[in-house]
Amino acid sequence: MAVFGASQGAAEIESSKVFAKELMQKHGIPCAQSASFSDLEKAKAYAQGQTPPIVIKADGLAAGKGVIIAESVPQAEEALTAIMKAKSFGPAGNRVVVEEHLHGREMSFFSFTDGRTVVPTVPACDYKRIYDDNQGPNTGGMGSYSPPPFYSEVLGHIISKTIMEPAILALADEGRQYKGILYGGLMIINNKMPKAIEFNARFGDPEAQVVLPRLKTDLVDIMMGVVNNELDKMNIEWSDDACVGVVMASGGYPGKYQTGFHISGLDDVDKDIMVFHAGTRVSPEGQIMTSGGRILTVVATGKDLAEAREKVYKNITRIQFEGCHYRKDIADIK
Ligand code: AMP
Ligand code: GLY
Repeated sequence: MAVFGASQGAAEIESSKVFAKELMQKHGIPCAQSASFSDLEKAKAYAQGQTPPIVIKADGLAAGKGVIIAESVPQAEEALTAIMKAKSFGPAGNRVVVEEHLHGREMSFFSFTDGRTVVPTVPACDYKRIYDDNQGPNTGGMGSYSPPPFYSEVLGHIISKTIMEPAILALADEGRQYKGILYGGLMIINNKMPKAIEFNARFGDPEAQVVLPRLKTDLVDIMMGVVNNELDKMNIEWSDDACVGVVMASGGYPGKYQTGFHISGLDDVDKDIMVFHAGTRVSPEGQIMTSGGRILTVVATGKDLAEAREKVYKNITRIQFEGCHYRKDIADIK
């Protein structure tokens, strides 16, 4: 079968934070200082020696909620107890990573790879918090834009050479050849020094919605290039347009929310607006209804971020459903 995607072994770079950190440390990939533990008392003792804020991460997958940024040592101890003893994230918390807090600007960076050749895409910024001005709990992502204004080709080169390519080579070294798209969640320190926060073995949501509209080459050709180990022969082209995407979510998300509301206005958006469905379904009567937390992403391109942003916000009010919530500050770059 022609498969564009990581094997189970290679995907551990996302599914185990302990594995990912060990890989980064062993192969000299710049990242936050950290230590991994399966013993609560040892984890607490290590946290006691750190300066807050202290980042505590459950090892396994926790739907984007497994990271706690503790503002004090007692808070870190509390988080460790909750994860490791009370198992607030289930078996994902059998092991934890205790990590230094990084300050900078977050960026999502993607690379296509057939395991040998590594080709970056254009990067994007994601908005993780539910409310404007980055308030409220973390979500899977409430909006995104591309390109980040602080991005440069030089920075992209540094990221590829110090983080993305070494990670893919490191996996190959461990007998876990990576094929598909690798997601580097990065912190850019002082606008120039990238460090890896995490890796995902997939595209980002909602980053894919603003990266792929800028792709001029046919995605299927790239996927086949990956499958056939011919990525080195491909010329992948990107548009210079900017792209902005805003997620419409159910009221209450990322906490409890209701579903089953009719979505109106989907046909009323301008022709050049893209609406990507996520948590929607078709009712027996043929109507589009809400059926999840993040319902859809409204996306526009433009000559710059301001133009793309204006188009999205002009159109988004035409789409409505009961309880609908979206951020008003996506790509509002000051
Ligand atoms: P992760 O699941 O590892 O991506 O972490 C979720 C979010 O927590 C990230 O997107 C960051 O906003 C934040 N975070 C994780 N690790 C760190 C760190 N070492 N320093 C600062 N923020 C972090
Ligand atoms: N938007 C972040 C993610 O897809 O993990």
